Amino acid sequence: MRSVAEFGRRARDADAGKALRVRMPDNPVDLLAAQRAVRDLLVALGFDPSDEGLVETPRRVATALTELVTPLPFTMTTFANTDGYDQLVLARAIPFHSVCQHHLLPFVGVAHVGYLPADRLVGLSKLARAVDYCARGLQVQERLTIQIATYLNERLTPRGVGVVLEAEHMCMSLRGVQKIGAKTVTSALLGTFRDDARAREEFLARAGVQEKTPMPRCGALRVSRRECFNAAHQLCDPDLSEDGNRRLFGKCVNLHGHNYMLDVVVTGDVDPSTGYVMDLKRLSDVICDAIIRDVDHRNLNTDVPWLAGRIPTAETLAVAFWERLEPHLSDGTLHSVRVWETEKNWAEYRGGG
Ligand code: NI
Repeated sequence: MRSVAEFGRRARDADAGKALRVRMPDNPVDLLAAQRAVRDLLVALGFDPSDEGLVETPRRVATALTELVTPLPFTMTTFANTDGYDQLVLARAIPFHSVCQHHLLPFVGVAHVGYLPADRLVGLSKLARAVDYCARGLQVQERLTIQIATYLNERLTPRGVGVVLEAEHMCMSLRGVQKIGAKTVTSALLGTFRDDARAREEFLARAGVQEKTPMPRCGALRVSRRECFNAAHQLCDPDLSEDGNRRLFGKCVNLHGHNYMLDVVVTGDVDPSTGYVMDLKRLSDVICDAIIRDVDHRNLNTDVPWLAGRIPTAETLAVAFWERLEPHLSDGTLHSVRVWETEKNWAEYRGGG
């Protein structure tokens, strides 16, 4: 069993020739120098470090950064596997945080760590401590993943070790491409997990990181958004006499109102980055901008320029709404527009003339 200090030395010794290394400080932390540097940074960024709210900032930042890059010492206690346990041992979703060495910004996530025991076992809390130990420092996620796996492999000499990290990087969420919530997933599989497909599958399945079933494509999915509005209309063909209109449209020749419902259905491929065919909030915005704003609480015969000259039946509305919507859909394809005039009557248009 090696002490943490020994591990640190070994890691630094390995710096020269191996990719695997813990990026620990080469020298003891000089807190005063760090505070001076933070003060200089504030000045360089255009701030006055003597401002009341910034006076203590250099000290706080230096202390916080020191904590983030200093591994917590612990002893990796192992014990004999006297009962011959030979199945998977897995600690799922261990929270961790580290600091990206490229931007000095945090990355935060969870680690799934498992092993197939041989002669030695380790307390489950030590798996979490091993993750913390390797994570404290300036890191990149890929290297951190391998380091945790190698650290456990060297100390436990198990039949297999698997480590999967899922993390959000602030350097990606808050700056640059600004993809908030995007997760980076890395894995390191050693021994049996690398060589045996069934053992690997079991580990990944129990860790909950199996490759997801691909989403169907080619328009197999439809999504729908319902919007409501009320409006008045009267059904009247100007080419017919009053009696003719009354015979054709009955009581609907008189101005009256409806509480309309409008169902807009969009079809398309699922965007793998969002899981959506189309963001329905955005579809709602498009419907409101193109249609609802113009028709809600209006007389459809006289108040809506793009309905001028058309008898505003539900059928007419379905076609006209289609014409209004289709040019504004950037995701997916418009599948149908259904106008509910009453709860018993609807008209649906699917395009195509
Ligand atoms: Ni009506």
